[in-house]
Amino acid sequence: MRKGIIFFVLATILVLGFAVQHVWILISLLIVDGREDAISRAELPAPNSGAISERPQLIPKIIHQTYINASIPAHWKGPQQSCLDLHPDYEYKLWTDKKAREFIAAEYPWFLETFDGYVYPIQRADAIRYFVLHHFGGIYIDLDDGCNRSLDPLLAYPAWVRRTTPTGISNDAMGAIPRHPFFLKAIDSLPDYNRRWILPYITVMASTGPLYLSIIWRHYNNGNPQGDDRVRILFPDEYNHHPWSFFTHHLGNSWHSNDVKLIFWMGQHWVLITFAGFTVGFALLFCMYTTCIRPRQANAPKARSVYARMPFYRRISQKDVELDDRHQV
Ligand SMILES: *[C@@H]1O[C@H](CO)[C@@H](O)[C@H](O)[C@H]1NC(C)=O
Repeated sequence: MRKGIIFFVLATILVLGFAVQHVWILISLLIVDGREDAISRAELPAPNSGAISERPQLIPKIIHQTYINASIPAHWKGPQQSCLDLHPDYEYKLWTDKKAREFIAAEYPWFLETFDGYVYPIQRADAIRYFVLHHFGGIYIDLDDGCNRSLDPLLAYPAWVRRTTPTGISNDAMGAIPRHPFFLKAIDSLPDYNRRWILPYITVMASTGPLYLSIIWRHYNNGNPQGDDRVRILFPDEYNHHPWSFFTHHLGNSWHSNDVKLIFWMGQHWVLITFAGFTVGFALLFCMYTTCIRPRQANAPKARSVYARMPFYRRISQKDVELDDRHQV
């Protein structure tokens, strides 16, 4: 085999290895489902069971919600009220934009710059929930989630989140004791993940939203937490569309925009997209290596700048580049 081919194959393996290592946590999200941490229906008492009061109450009885201001839109008043009605003995905290900022400034000043710098308001709404759970403990519930039964049985777990389909965990309803190490990690990692991606949806998902929390969850579980440090998982079967479900869902994702359709389409066709991506990538590499680059003829026009970014060339002066003879590469 020619040296060039060996080089090409090695470089490709290197690049692929690098890419896979970088997205390993993402790939693992597709495989790991968190079953080992599931809160099974068998251990949850029925809605009116006397067994509920015999369980430990670890999580403080506080419900946290977030909105821009105190004027909750009419279509969310129903779900909000359903949670209030079922939990008369819980403290209720509505985190408006103003209150959220004051809270961060007072309790977590190291985060204020990142908090203020977020481009999308939903990023602040995402972030604040991790901070209030870390600080006060309690249960966070999105305004578009209503309550179907008392959440008391869930107070027995030091930390829990909901599994979401097709992969990962959601941040729309979560509970924790104050200072739980998972939420400590979730708040500590926020500045590192504050990056902008091309689409707003990806930026929000990956910097503060469910994808962010799922990645943190994978990293956290790699440390093999035991006992109270475990994060327990509520699976859809246990929380959706049943008399024993804890939550009901109401439409109204307040921030979804046009790019969402594209993302959902990509989510459904990720195998195809991955395959297409690799195909195009390999085709480009192969093309660069073989046919697209030809040694410049004496009378050919000067190498255009695009060649200057390609491999297998040699710079012979400040302005000029010359392609290496491929057989010598
Ligand atoms: C609350 O926010 C909504 C949405 O931005 C706005 O329409 C409304 O006027 C605000 N209400 C108050 C009392 O500021």
